[in-house]
Amino acid sequence: MKNIGVVGIQWGDEGKGKIIDILSEYADIIVRFQGGANAGHTIVAKGQKIILHLIPSGILHEDKVCVIGNGVVIDPEVFRQEIEKLKSLGYITHDERLLLSTMAHVIMPYHKKLDVLKESKGTKKIGTTGRGIGPAYEDKVGRKGIRVIDLLNKKIFSEKVKQNLEEKNFLIKKFYKDQPFKFRDIIRTYGTYRKLLKRYATDTVHYLHTGIGRKKRILFEGAQGTFLDIDHGTYPYVTSSNTVAGNISSGSGVPPKSIDYILGICKAYTTRVGEGPFPTELFDESGKTMREKGVEFGSTTGRPRRCGWFDAVIVKRALQLNGVDGLCIMKLDVLDTFDTIKMCTRYKIGKRFFTRPPVDSQGLEKCEPVYEEFAGWKTSLRGITRYDDLPENAKRYIKRLEEILETRINIISTGPERESTIIINNPFNM
Ligand code: IMP
Repeated sequence: MKNIGVVGIQWGDEGKGKIIDILSEYADIIVRFQGGANAGHTIVAKGQKIILHLIPSGILHEDKVCVIGNGVVIDPEVFRQEIEKLKSLGYITHDERLLLSTMAHVIMPYHKKLDVLKESKGTKKIGTTGRGIGPAYEDKVGRKGIRVIDLLNKKIFSEKVKQNLEEKNFLIKKFYKDQPFKFRDIIRTYGTYRKLLKRYATDTVHYLHTGIGRKKRILFEGAQGTFLDIDHGTYPYVTSSNTVAGNISSGSGVPPKSIDYILGICKAYTTRVGEGPFPTELFDESGKTMREKGVEFGSTTGRPRRCGWFDAVIVKRALQLNGVDGLCIMKLDVLDTFDTIKMCTRYKIGKRFFTRPPVDSQGLEKCEPVYEEFAGWKTSLRGITRYDDLPENAKRYIKRLEEILETRINIISTGPERESTIIINNPFNM
């Protein structure tokens, strides 16, 4: 396979960063196509833990080119900090290794403020990351957003900031009763980003098409997960971009037919951060064990993640939505100590059973999980690299996952390090 899309098929935090990092070795170009600094991709490389919010995880590989596509909303301050951090660790040795779409929308200070204010007012809290993602995408769709190309032009940028501030300050002052922004402050701060952005900004669509023409291998790095998708997720408890594989194309400008393979990433159990329905959520010791053993705390906000058993009902839906060709099962080692492991294969509402999730959050709230139970393996999987070395009970769990999901499992993760990985099939070599 030449061009591979990697997507999360639960509620995000599935471990995409680790897989992207591993597969980057086989790719030439790694592309982010949606979301922004709400993402937190954690990679453990050379014994060092690195969390990336904006820059594709492939940046840790010396000779690869990383692209931030047009579908991403970029916070210039996070971008600057991430570049500085990576440079100090010796990772970005040539600036040409990082490209930023001139069409990407820029997160402004009022986006971040409005994100926080919206969450604090009213009863319908989404539990956002507070990174300004929703308000920035609102402006993009409302055709008043500011793109990287606008920021590069002093005059256009000033005009657009002025227009936006009229509206945003009205909202902030009159509706939220908070401090408005000063035009001059924004112009001054964002002026300092201009030189930096200019160094990386380019027509990434042209770059990717040239790459495709030259038979380069491209890896598309999804952020968040399928059930945080603005259309297909548990609306309104979702993020503001399309996280499904279909958005690889519009978020980066490559035609759908140039994507050869979709790799779905999911945990051996389920987690979610923020509000919203979660049928298999655990409130007991089992959930606590998952959180502690799996270090289930948000890498962007530090919030504890809600934990629960694997939910095959939603995962099956995600496989359809994304057209998943193969799966990675992450964090199997987190289940090492359980006597019994459960997998939800159906939902129950009253006396009726369902194998398809309701499309509305209210409906999903009413679903009770129906579980199949498996004997635990009660031994450490940490660091296992060969499928044959897995204990029989772990193989039984994996086999049942493959059977119920009707999808091939390509990779199994047995620990956070690059090395703790069982690669059954590498999609780039198939
Ligand atoms: P927003 O993307 O910050 O607007 O947050 C909307 C919802 O998506 C909240 O429930 C967040 O917790 C969730 N979310 C956003 N980004 C991520 C992520 O990278 N991992 C997991 N959840 C996320």
